Amino acid sequence: MSLPGRFITFEGIDGAGKTTHIDALEQAWRQQGRDVVRTREPGGTPLAEKLRELVLHDSMDPLTEALLVFSARRDHLQQVIRPALARGAWVLCDRFTDATFAYQGAGRGFELGVLRQLETWVQEGLQPDLTLLFDLPPAVAAGRLQAARQPDRFEALDAAFFERVRSGYLARQAAQPDRFAIIQADARPEEVAEQVRETIAAKGWA
Ligand code: TYD
Repeated sequence: MSLPGRFITFEGIDGAGKTTHIDALEQAWRQQGRDVVRTREPGGTPLAEKLRELVLHDSMDPLTEALLVFSARRDHLQQVIRPALARGAWVLCDRFTDATFAYQGAGRGFELGVLRQLETWVQEGLQPDLTLLFDLPPAVAAGRLQAARQPDRFEALDAAFFERVRSGYLARQAAQPDRFAIIQADARPEEVAEQVRETIAAKGWA
């Protein structure tokens, strides 16, 4: 059953620069008077934001990490995403389940079969209408992050981890190519913004 709203997710390794472009799209659509819901994962509800703090800062075993991420997602879907899509809103979500397959699956080496089972239980068939994957070499992303704040548990990991995360994202894209648009995120910011605008225009959503 398809909901009247549109669900757009933004993905990429840490330092890919997606936040700037989500901000721009959010602002442009708000100026047009659209009903826009800007949210993020892990997080997006009071409960899910508490779980985010645990996932990003406390050590835990991989199954615990995967369960917490999907618990946060379940609350977010029920409290925010599904109601927004049901009333016809444009939902812009900074990371979603592809991040779990990329970080917990490819990055940490957690079993993909278990993640698929959790995805099925938690999402009950709901998938993003469009996922923009900000793709770039981890070395370029790491250079951008150096100027940033205190790293969280994931940002502190090494280059090999981010190579695996990048491959994990590209594997999800290869499996569901119609849902994804790859954005070449190592281009200049104006060029990246142009790629995002073209992707949205090609969907007929500009
Ligand atoms: P991020 O979205 O980059 O937020 P900020 O810009 O505030 O750092 O950080 C979230 C981190 O959580 C990021 O390193 C990826 C990780 N993450 C997972 O490991 N699994 C998931 O399912 C999600 C959604 C995120």
